[in-house]
Amino acid sequence: MHIPDIIIAIDGYSSTGKSSFAKIIANEFSFLYLDSGALYRGVTLFAIENGFITDDSAIDVPGLTEALKNLDIHFGPCGTYMGERCIEKEIRSLEVAGKVSPIATVPQVRNYVDRKLREFGKKKRIVMDGRDIGTTVFPDAELKLFMTADPMIRAQRRAAEMQAKGQEVDLDDVLRNLQERDYIDSHREISPLTQAEDAVVLDNSHMTMQDQLEWLKGLIRERFDC
Ligand code: DC
Repeated sequence: MHIPDIIIAIDGYSSTGKSSFAKIIANEFSFLYLDSGALYRGVTLFAIENGFITDDSAIDVPGLTEALKNLDIHFGPCGTYMGERCIEKEIRSLEVAGKVSPIATVPQVRNYVDRKLREFGKKKRIVMDGRDIGTTVFPDAELKLFMTADPMIRAQRRAAEMQAKGQEVDLDDVLRNLQERDYIDSHREISPLTQAEDAVVLDNSHMTMQDQLEWLKGLIRERFDC
C-alpha cells in the first residue's frame, strides 16, 4: 500500500502503545518515526544528572533553561542520544518516568522540544507520537490519531515490557505512575493532553497490533483514496 506524503500525528495517554504502533506504521509505509516523549525524557535525564531537580523534586527552572541552550538531544542508530552518548536505556527507567511529567510542564522545556520536532518534521512522510502533536506541534497534520486504553491493561502491558528488560516491577507502582502522569499531562497549563477536534480515536484495549494496523489501513484508504 503506497500512501501520500503526509504527517501522521499520534497522541494519547501513557502506555497505550503509541510508540510501538508508530514504529510499525513507519516500517509498513517507509515513514520516519519521531518519538517526542524521548526528547522530554532526555531533558529529564539531563536535569537529574546535572542537579536541576532538587531532593524535594523542585525544578531549578532558570538553571535548566540556561543549560538547554547547549543541550544536544537527537535521534540516531541506537535511538536517543545526548551528544555522543546513547541514552535510550536510561530514559526508560522508572526514575525518569517519575520525573518527566513535571519537567514537561516547564514552558522553556516545551519550547526546546517543539523547536526540535518542527525541525525534524520539515520533511513529510513522518509519524510522530506524543501528547500534543496534533494540537500544538503539527496542528496541520493530515492524519491524527488519539490512542486510549483501559488503565489496568496499560499498566499490565508496561509492567510486562519492563520485566522483559529484566527490571523489577510492582504492578501497583506502575499503575500509580501511569495515573499520575495521565493527570499531570491532562491538567498542565501549556499544551495539555487533549484530543484534537479532527483526531480519530483508537481504543486498543482489546486489539492486537495487527488489528490496529488493519484498522489504520482501512482509515487511510477511505481518507486518501489509495
Ligand atoms: O510518551 P512517553 O511516555 O515517552 O512520554 C513521556 C512524558 O513526556 C509524558 O509523561 C508527558 C511528556 N510528553 C509531553 O508532554 N508531550 C509530548 N508531546 C510527549 C511527551
